[in-house]
Amino acid sequence: MKEKTKIAVLVSGGGTNLQALIDFEKSGGLKSGKLSLVISDNPNAYALERAKMAGIKTAVICKKEFENRSNFEQAIIKTLKENEIQLIILAGFMTILSEKFTSLFPERIINVHPSLIPSFCGKGFYGLKVHEAALSYGVKVTGATVHFVNEIPDGGRIILQKAVEIKDGDTPEILQKRVMEQAEWKILPEAAEKVSKELLNNK
Ligand code: GAR
Repeated sequence: MKEKTKIAVLVSGGGTNLQALIDFEKSGGLKSGKLSLVISDNPNAYALERAKMAGIKTAVICKKEFENRSNFEQAIIKTLKENEIQLIILAGFMTILSEKFTSLFPERIINVHPSLIPSFCGKGFYGLKVHEAALSYGVKVTGATVHFVNEIPDGGRIILQKAVEIKDGDTPEILQKRVMEQAEWKILPEAAEKVSKELLNNK
């Protein structure tokens, strides 16, 4: 069997982006990568059920069970190393990782963000808040971005972006759904394959 990049997906919530990755793998699109592990920082995340249904190994690592952020991150690092993970995908993972963490995995962590970076991104811009900000600013086009993760929140090199139209009468919820359907669920799997392939070729 062809060698594949071992991928861990870090999640906190519903996991629709994880589902897009699972469906992409099932359909044969993830030729260079294998979804090998899902880590959640929330024990109640529905993403964990999605992983289990797809037969992917899961781990729950909760911040509140650790004395400080450093110990919490060390626990994640240990789990990633034990599972020989080569690529980390943040898919709705609502914790900002420290420089200590990100510097261990240069250009090996990718994140999906629900706006066209550099708009509506950085600390405090996550989930529905991003769409609320886009609507209140009044932009007519938004979208999603997949980027590498470094020490600057949402500041790493951009891998893929896709624009999405804003329509009259949009609510944050309606816009979130459109951005997911038209952009996130498409560019995240595409980027996962692109980076997995590059990692295999660079070995
Ligand atoms: C997605 O829209 C993702 O882009 C966003 O949270 C949602 C998670 O949904 N991530 C961020 O805002 C990160 N800054 P999901 O759990 O259904 O994939």
